[in-house]
Amino acid sequence: MDALVDAALEARSHAYAPYSEFQVGAAIEDSDGRVWTGCNIENATLGLTVCAERVAVFKALSEGARKFKRVAIAAHTERPTPPCGACRQILWEFCGDIEVILANPHGVTETFHLKDLFPRPFDASFIR
Ligand code: THU
Repeated sequence: MDALVDAALEARSHAYAPYSEFQVGAAIEDSDGRVWTGCNIENATLGLTVCAERVAVFKALSEGARKFKRVAIAAHTERPTPPCGACRQILWEFCGDIEVILANPHGVTETFHLKDLFPRPFDASFIR
């Protein structure tokens, strides 16, 4: 299996999700081939929960990574779980039309381009 999917599945094991019990892992590969991982981190307020994808992207950004090639997202669902709307916006901001691989622990994967999951994005092109 794809090492990036394996990294997302492994990251999922670190999820802090006592409220939803819905564990998610993400792994993002940068242009140097480095892999940055994240898991969802919930909060008793619920609203302060941060998704796995954003944890992975923010970890990478905060260490200086700026260009990304692919992201893998892992959850336990039979139909692989897609990124939420907020994460699509963040992924678009920093990764553009990146390859998005959705996976579950049973070896089911689906691959998309972010543009197809997030058509007509609002971005810097409207502000500048
Ligand atoms: N979650 C993610 O981490 N990523 C997604 O793409 C979908 C949702 C998390 C947020 C929350 O901790 C739990 O899954 C249930 O919504």
